[in-house]
Amino acid sequence: MTVRDRYFGVLGTGSAAPERILTNAELETMVDTSDEWIVSRTGIKERRIADEKTTSSTLAHRAALAALESAKLGAEEIDLIICATVTPDMAFPATACLLQDLLGLRRIPAFDLSAGCSGFGYALSVAESMLRSGPYKRALVVGVDLLSRITDYEDRSTCVLFGDGAGAAILGELPEGFGILASELGADGARGSLLQMPAGGSLRPASLASVEERQHYIRMQGSDVFKFAVRIMDEAGKRVVAQAGLEMDQVDLVVPHQANMRIISAAASRLGLPEEKFFVNVERYGNTSAASIGLALDEAARSGLLKHGDHVVLVGFGAGLTWSALVIKWWAEGDQHGSC
Ligand code: ACO
Repeated sequence: MTVRDRYFGVLGTGSAAPERILTNAELETMVDTSDEWIVSRTGIKERRIADEKTTSSTLAHRAALAALESAKLGAEEIDLIICATVTPDMAFPATACLLQDLLGLRRIPAFDLSAGCSGFGYALSVAESMLRSGPYKRALVVGVDLLSRITDYEDRSTCVLFGDGAGAAILGELPEGFGILASELGADGARGSLLQMPAGGSLRPASLASVEERQHYIRMQGSDVFKFAVRIMDEAGKRVVAQAGLEMDQVDLVVPHQANMRIISAAASRLGLPEEKFFVNVERYGNTSAASIGLALDEAARSGLLKHGDHVVLVGFGAGLTWSALVIKWWAEGDQHGSC
């Protein structure tokens, strides 16, 4: 069991999703698929798609403002920004820096982190370490992805899965025993080719050929990712719960990466937890990558599902292949940001 001398956790959450809904019925008109196939294989009924004016930084900004409001904090009280994304506004500057500017902040460190759908968990864990060891008091963590910008709407095996969204959390110090109790981050780079966007980087810069060959879209070997996801959610979930000094039956809620209902059901069964303990919104958003866990956590918190003192497990997997798992003892008493 990991012993912490100071505890940091979530002071407030926020999320944002574009207005436009892309339904399974609409996808039926675009590729050779059916509502029945999509729902039975994935659980997804609809997903949100950003309009042309929306970017990762502007959607992240909306989620960040909601998180600040829920934490009852002003933007000026934040002194660190970490943004998890695989769809930054541009390769550089970092989307976190664009977000810093949108929030009217100056000087504070702001950087992006790329860990695919595990990004939100990675960012929470990195922020917690920086708060514990550095001169920072409060961190803004945002997971945002506009996967619609890198989805091939001619590829039925991927285009039914993905959507756009943003999830945010404000982290700060909490009384002893609350907040993040344990975390595990991991990666298996040897499996990187299972889920990638082949072109647009230094390996294969954008060219006429790369565009014609449709190399700027997500390419995925779905069934291999599926097997990895089920195994890692089980293994990392068990390890992180033990690391927090808990038994599995002390877990009150699991907020898993929202990729596919069948992955969530299989992970629940392996972890020996009832599916009712898993928060699920994949039917409304699809897979929103780095946004997924933050968006789900915000909906769970706002719907009153998370009670003061609850043990919440956040667990995800994604491009890399990566995984992240955290145990949080939820703080929701009185003033969200406590007296620390
Ligand atoms: N509609 C109809 N048929 C389809 C569709 C579709 N949208 N997509 C694929 N099929 C067909 C395939 O062509 C195949 O047909 P065939 O047997 O004639 O060749 C058949 O359905 C079965 O295809 P599989 O790929 O074996 O289907 P599977 O049951 O594995 O489901 C899925 C595919 C949903 C993609 C699944 O593998 C999955 O969810 N994998 C995990 C994906 C995931 O979570 N990715 C996110 C990672 S996170 C990140 O960082 C973005």
